[in-house]
Amino acid sequence: MNKQSETTHSQRRTAWTWESWQYFAWLAAIVLLAFVVLIMWSTSTAAQTRRAEQTIRHALSLRADPANGAQLYAQHCASCHGALALGNPAFVVPALAGQLDVYLVKQLVDVAESDREIPEMHRVLARAELVQPQAIRDLTAFICALEPNASNEVGPGKDVARGDKIYVDQCAACHGDSAEGFRQGFVPALRHQHYSYLLSQMRSLAVGHRYSVDVEVIERLEALQLVELVATADAVSRKSRTISKRVPQKPNGLSEGK
Ligand code: HEC
Ligand code: HEC
Repeated sequence: MNKQSETTHSQRRTAWTWESWQYFAWLAAIVLLAFVVLIMWSTSTAAQTRRAEQTIRHALSLRADPANGAQLYAQHCASCHGALALGNPAFVVPALAGQLDVYLVKQLVDVAESDREIPEMHRVLARAELVQPQAIRDLTAFICALEPNASNEVGPGKDVARGDKIYVDQCAACHGDSAEGFRQGFVPALRHQHYSYLLSQMRSLAVGHRYSVDVEVIERLEALQLVELVATADAVSRKSRTISKRVPQKPNGLSEGK
């Protein structure tokens, strides 16, 4: 009786050990696989970032042909962004006219490289003729020389003073006192933009939905409550009413920024 119980006990122990070996082998395999996937992912992300940077630099080094840009724009972009690139607030389509060309170049490359998700535009930018650096250069030179939207959609106007204060304290250092943007760092102009688009992007940036963005920008927007985001987007959307001076352009179509 005693012997029998010993045998059963040792058999059980053997069975348990074998199962745990299997268990640990599976666990080790999963950890190893996760590690390999992580390395592959980070290498491909780094390669993508390098490729994007090279494309941006290459596009900006080229001489622009705005006439070709106008043709490409009419064919591929006007249906959504409008013939004069004034956008469409009803569908949260941004105004592009007068935006800094360096920022436009970066956004087109970001979308092409999936660093920014715009499903409608992925289809457009999948066209081989549009992702060429020369096409990007020509398109952006044409768009940035267009007259900015003087009657963009504005917010509800309930808390504008609060929004103005937040803008001056927390945003103006990068985006400029009159929201004109800044070439260095690819900082977009925000004035002349539709209120609903400004608000949607502030929320998108705050939750990390645009990937090629400095963490400081994300943290700044993440720290604001919804009522503060609404007030700030509202105040910014009204800047086009008080400041109409456009960003100066160089003869080659490059904007000078500040
Ligand atoms: C099918 C509609 C559609 C077409 C066609 C389209 N876009 Fe867009 N585009 C959008 C929408 C919608 C957004 C805003 C997406 C979001 O909310 O993130 C956008 C955003 C952008 C932005 C980012 C603006 C910003 O302020 O960050 C740029 C630049 C842009 N489009 C340029 C273009 C160009 C150039 C073309 C033509 C080659 C084009 N788009 C064609 C719908 C379109
Ligand atoms: C450290 C500099 C910095 C600060 C501070 C900053 N931003 Fe930005 N912001 C940027 C940059 C750079 C981008 C472009 C990101 C990209 O390339 O996608 C951006 C993008 C945006 C956009 C998207 C514009 C578009 O056309 O899609 C909005 C809206 C915006 N910022 C609003 C704000 C507001 C409001 C504040 C203050 C609460 C703020 N930002 C503070 C640098 C800054």
